[in-house]
Amino acid sequence: MAFLKYISESEGQTRRLAAKLARGLKENDCLALVGDFGSGKTTFVKGLAKGLACGKKDYVCSPSFVILKIYRGRVPVYHFDLYRLKRERDAEAVGLFEFIGAGGVAVIEWPEKVLKYLPDSRLEIRFFVRGEKKRELHFFVSDGRLKKLLEKVAK
Ligand SMILES: Nc1ncnc2c1ncn2[C@@H]1O[C@H](COP(=O)(O)OP(=O)(O)OP(=O)(O)O)[C@@H](O)[C@H]1O
Ligand SMILES: [Mg+2]
Repeated sequence: MAFLKYISESEGQTRRLAAKLARGLKENDCLALVGDFGSGKTTFVKGLAKGLACGKKDYVCSPSFVILKIYRGRVPVYHFDLYRLKRERDAEAVGLFEFIGAGGVAVIEWPEKVLKYLPDSRLEIRFFVRGEKKRELHFFVSDGRLKKLLEKVAK
């Protein structure tokens, strides 16, 4: 397991980092984004979607909230926000297992409840708030290709 650290000084910097990373992503990659409210997870996903040339967005809604957004880009992006997932076993109900390894890039906010179901090859990113505009991103990666990609974009 390799570890890389990146300091972002602005929202734009976080977006640009994600967009650069996106260019090297491939179908079936899985990203788990861990971090407190407002630490930058969704901001990162916006940059990622831009980097994958996503345009139109589809919302997959449950009656009270959106748990999955699908962006159509170079490869589809399946963006899960599991904050409101109550129980681990609800992961199945929200379609998590249908979308991981289904030919797109799966990005999961609040993955804590389902980490044990995610592929070992996932890229895990931990976000820390260090100041009003300062965020620290910790990347944990075991997959060789993703590690090389990160070393290229996060320096
Ligand atoms: N360096 C930075 N990187 C990312 N966001 C930043 C940065 N500096 C300030 N921000 C601000 O922090 C907020 C991050 O919000 P965002 O929705 O991305 O967080 P989140 O981790 O998805 O939160 P939640 O868990 O509530 O979904 C935004 O308002 C953004 O403008
Ligand atoms: Mg969010």
